[in-house]
Formats: sequence, structure tokens, C-alpha cells
Amino acid sequence: MRTQVAVIGAGPAGLLLAHLLHRGGVDAVVIETRSQEYVAARIRAGILESSSVELLESVGLGARLRAEGHEHRGIYLQMPGERHHLDFVDLAGRSVWVYGQTEVQKDLVAAGTAVVHYEAGEVQLHDVETERPYVTFVDAAGRAQRLDADVIAGCDGSFGPSRAVAAPAQRFERVYPYSWLGILADVAPSTDELIYAWHPDGFALHSMRSETVSRLYLQVPNGTDPADWPDDRIWAELATRLGHGQDGWKLTPGPITDKSVLPMRSYVQTPMRRGRLFLAGDAAHIVPPTGAKGLNLAIADVALLSRALVALLREHDPRPADSYSDDALRRVWRCTHFSWWMTTMLHTSGDEFDAQLQLSQLRWVTTSAAGATGLAENYAGLPIGF
Ligand code: FAD
Ligand code: DHB
Repeated sequence: MRTQVAVIGAGPAGLLLAHLLHRGGVDAVVIETRSQEYVAARIRAGILESSSVELLESVGLGARLRAEGHEHRGIYLQMPGERHHLDFVDLAGRSVWVYGQTEVQKDLVAAGTAVVHYEAGEVQLHDVETERPYVTFVDAAGRAQRLDADVIAGCDGSFGPSRAVAAPAQRFERVYPYSWLGILADVAPSTDELIYAWHPDGFALHSMRSETVSRLYLQVPNGTDPADWPDDRIWAELATRLGHGQDGWKLTPGPITDKSVLPMRSYVQTPMRRGRLFLAGDAAHIVPPTGAKGLNLAIADVALLSRALVALLREHDPRPADSYSDDALRRVWRCTHFSWWMTTMLHTSGDEFDAQLQLSQLRWVTTSAAGATGLAENYAGLPIGF
């Protein structure tokens, strides 16, 4: 087989890149190890920043998002006995949207613009430092395949082969001493906008997916077994940390439909390119989830990469491709800092000195216009190309 861009991975980065390339008149073929059903059902991110929404809308992927997504003006930040609303629209002129990664993924599949080989095995990248790179794999029917291309886009997340093939000059990493226990519950959210809560027992987050589905998270120690957290224990701990009873607010529990533990890590590898292999999304960087940046960073990467590849392959202009890694990394590092900052401000470590600094910082971002605006600008998202 031959195509212009061989895309490894059919997550949001890979499918959106194929869609953007298709609109730009460049052919792409996507190779994915998992089945279409598995990829579509993975429960992950839930918040889109305004530049992600604008991008999706501008390429024909905004109709269901506008109809079924929910626009939020801001978030609540909470400490025991206090809840403060930060209005991003007032502070930074931008909002965010609640729209699950599963829904973005469905819209990309429905657009039908990506040719995807699902259930591919033994995916290998070859000759990435030449102008004739290729990918070999075994297709779903067990046949050996070779896909020749002008460019390979590594969109295969943190476990795929691309990041190692890219032979990074440098890797940066931070592992955090806590994880999140995340639940999905069939119950109406108990809040109109997300609540990020600092509590001496650990962080808690009340998010949502729709009027009838809530998504909530608890800070737990690394290595936690979800089996140690029966539903009643989860709801009781969420109620304590989120301030059930405070000023008459109530957390309404409901049936839990999904429960999982997520470890937290920051990771960046540079450059995001080796020869004709370009990395985008989690293949190049991971952020801890606090602040909801992972999916938005993947979207911003492929917005830049698609423009660079259209210029390279249609207009024979290599300049945007040559600056892709530097351009993408400016935003990657901003979001890496923001996610680290939100994470370390909100998760308890057991150290009393750290706790006092966290509370002082939270008081500053909830009472000073300058502090609140900094958080709002980063959370609601900087323009693509920043
Ligand atoms: P992925 O979505 O990981 O897609 C990569 C794709 O490559 C996958 O489909 C994978 O199957 C495929 N692949 C892997 N190996 C190969 C191979 N050898 N060959 C071919 N294909 C391969 N972000 C947030 O902002 N908020 C959240 O709440 C949040 N929760 C998360 C929960 C979990 C459990 C995880 C793992 C991530 C979470 N994230 C969250 C991060 C966010 O989901 C990611 O940043 C986002 O999915 C990145 O998209 P991507 O397309 O780069 O990578
Ligand atoms: C969600 C996840 C986050 O990490 C976050 O900061 C906000 C919301 C979510 O899954 O809904």
C-alpha cells in the first residue's frame, strides 16, 4: 500500500490528523492495534478548551458538540468551609466545554474521512530518516502488510512504538506520589460547573459528562486496588472532600458504572521529530490530568502538524515542518507547567509545610484578580500557535 502520511494510532490525535489532512488534500492511512469498538469506548478526558472547540467547529466537527456539549463559564475551587467560583469568561474572555473524548472520537469516526486499519499487529516503523519511510504490520486477517509513505505521524500514545523510534535527544519526567480513583456514575451532577477541592484527606474533583452522568475523582495512594473501594466508601469520601452539608450543598450519590485507578506522570521528549517521523499527542508528552490538558494538547499538536504536512507535501515548503517541534513544544511546556502547578497545589502530600503553601496559593488565586486571571487564561486555553 502507498499513502502520503502513514498515521500510527487512531486515538483523537491520529483520527483528527487524518481528518485535517483529508481537508487539506493530503492522503493518509491510519494503523491502529485495537478494535474500533475498544477505541470508541475508552473513557478518558472530558473538557475541551475554547481553541479546541473553535478548531473542531472550523473543520465540520462542531454540530453535535454545540447541540449536546455544555459550555461552562468557569470552575469552583474549594477548601474546607469555602467554595469560590472563577469565571473564565469575565477573567480571560474564554469558556470551556464539557464534551467527552468518547464523543469527539465518535464524531471523527462519523466524519468518515480517515481510512483506518484496526486490529493491526506487529506495527513497525522503518527508514524514518529517509524520504521513503514505511510501516509494516499484520492486518486483522493475519496478512503481512507494508505501507509506504512520504511521512509517518506517530500518534500512538505513551505505549506505542513511535516515541522510541524518534530517538529523543532529551526526556523530561516527573512521577507523582499519588493516583486518581475515577468513577462514572448514572446520576445527575450535583453541581452546575466542575468543583476542584483541596482537602486534608486528599484532592477530589466533581466533573460530569451530561445532565444524567457524573464523573468524579479522588486522590488515592499509588498502587491502590479499586477493589478496596466499594461504592459506599467512594461516595462517603467524595462527600467529605467535596463539602457535603457546607452551606446546604449536597452530593447526590448514584449507581457507579465504571471505576479505575489512574497513575499520574509528567513526561516530555524532545524534539518531536526525527527525519520524516513526527510525533503528536501522548506519543510525545503526558501531563497529569488536573487541569484537563491531555486531549487539548493532542488537538493543538495535530492542528500545527496538519498545516506543516500540507505545506511540505502539497506546496513543497519545508519551513512549517522544520519549525513544528519548536512551535508545538512552546504550548506543551506551558501546559506541562500548568498541569504540574494545578496538581501540586491541590494534592496533599502529608507534609504540613506544603499544605500551608497550598492553602496560601489557593487563597491568592481565589481572591486576587491577577491570580485568578492567570489560572483562567491557562485553564480556558491559549490560542493554537501560542
Ligand atoms: P491516545 O488516545 O492514547 O491514542 C493512541 C492510540 O494509539 C490508541 O488508540 C492506541 O491503541 C494506539 N496504539 C498504541 N500502540 C500502537 C501500535 N503499536 N500501533 C498502532 N496503534 C497503536 N486527559 C484529560 O485531559 N482529562 C482526563 O480526564 C484524562 N483522563 C485520562 C485517563 C486515562 C486512563 C488515560 C490513559 C488518559 C487520560 N487523559 C485525560 C489523557 C487524554 O486522554 C490523552 O491525552 C489523549 O487521549 C491523547 O490522545 P492521543 O491520540 O495522543 O493518544
Ligand atoms: C475531567 C478530568 C480532568 O482531569 C479535569 O481536570 C477535569 C475534568 C473529566 O474527566 O471530566
